Amino acid sequence: ELGPYSHFMQKEIHEQPKALSDTIEAVLENGFVAELFGTNAAKLLPQVEGVKILACGTSFYAGLTAKYWIESIAGISCDVEIASEYRYRDAFANPKHLVVTISQSGETLDTMEALKYAKELGHTMALSICNVRESAIPRASELVFYTRAGAEIGVASTKAFTTQLVGLFALAVTLGKQRGRVDAAAEHGYQEALRQLPGSVQHALNLEPQIKAWSDKFAAKQNALFLGRGLHYPIALEGALKLKEISYIHAEAYPAGELKHGPLALVDESMPVVVIAPNDALLEKVKSNMQEVRARGGELFVFADLDSHFSESDGVHVIRTPRHVGVLSAIVHTIPVQMLAYHVALARGTDVDKPRNLAKSVTVE
Ligand code: F6R
Repeated sequence: ELGPYSHFMQKEIHEQPKALSDTIEAVLENGFVAELFGTNAAKLLPQVEGVKILACGTSFYAGLTAKYWIESIAGISCDVEIASEYRYRDAFANPKHLVVTISQSGETLDTMEALKYAKELGHTMALSICNVRESAIPRASELVFYTRAGAEIGVASTKAFTTQLVGLFALAVTLGKQRGRVDAAAEHGYQEALRQLPGSVQHALNLEPQIKAWSDKFAAKQNALFLGRGLHYPIALEGALKLKEISYIHAEAYPAGELKHGPLALVDESMPVVVIAPNDALLEKVKSNMQEVRARGGELFVFADLDSHFSESDGVHVIRTPRHVGVLSAIVHTIPVQMLAYHVALARGTDVDKPRNLAKSVTVE
């Protein structure tokens, strides 16, 4: 079942080009049409005036990424909340807001209960982004987008996450189109970006030997810091979570602009700092944050792309993806942080597919 791979996690990381192309197939065939989200979507989506995303763990980070797309492409407000927090507070419900739950398993108890609570509070429109057909959460939702990642066996979510991002990106563009913010040329551009995505992800996968070479430097550490800005901040969060859960190294992620507000105090020669720094509009800002780290002796491990202009130097290690992919760059830059966590865990000899204390599907509180 594992084929040439040593673990399900490694296999599932490498399945991403296929998982992504299966998930985008319908978008490439039909464009960004409401029907991608179910038969009711043509009626419901035009009524949507805001989006509220509810999820846990890695799926929550997919939601954080989606917020950037939904507000910039669709021009509607989007807030993202951890399901276990939302379900226990007196929340304000606007029935014109679409509740979006994100769950690989479709069975996560807190996400399910958050959805029920949203309905009790008066929400009437719910969309589930889910990988398991006919599971509890999509069954309780008016609309559904099934990711086509195939079964995910490793406890750490990998291909489920990147395919969730595709579903959320499709939602942002579809809402933007309905609101007259995405014209035919822009739609074509977004479709092309998706068409090229599996190839770009394959290029990122080809970086595995370089990433493996970094893993020894992390294996002996007790802490790591992950930094990103904008769309790449949630990817820093995801990288830190992956590293914690499978290698048991304490890792934290911060938006790089927050360094000065506290975490910079942690940085010294023993702190590896991973930076997600492709060439987007915030790169210059990220570079000055990197200098802040270097000035305190922190060792930088930078995931960049060919267009991010800076070079390796003392204490600055760089791995580059071969091209800058624009709006979907967050998806491509997920691959290196997954592989980093995987190889660090291997170097430390932990049980990669079944990390201690964790379950694949969290059906208890
Ligand atoms: C992390 C991980 C978890 C899940 C979370 C939600 O690698 O897998 O954080 O993302 O338990 O699970 P789902 O998406 O099934 O609701």
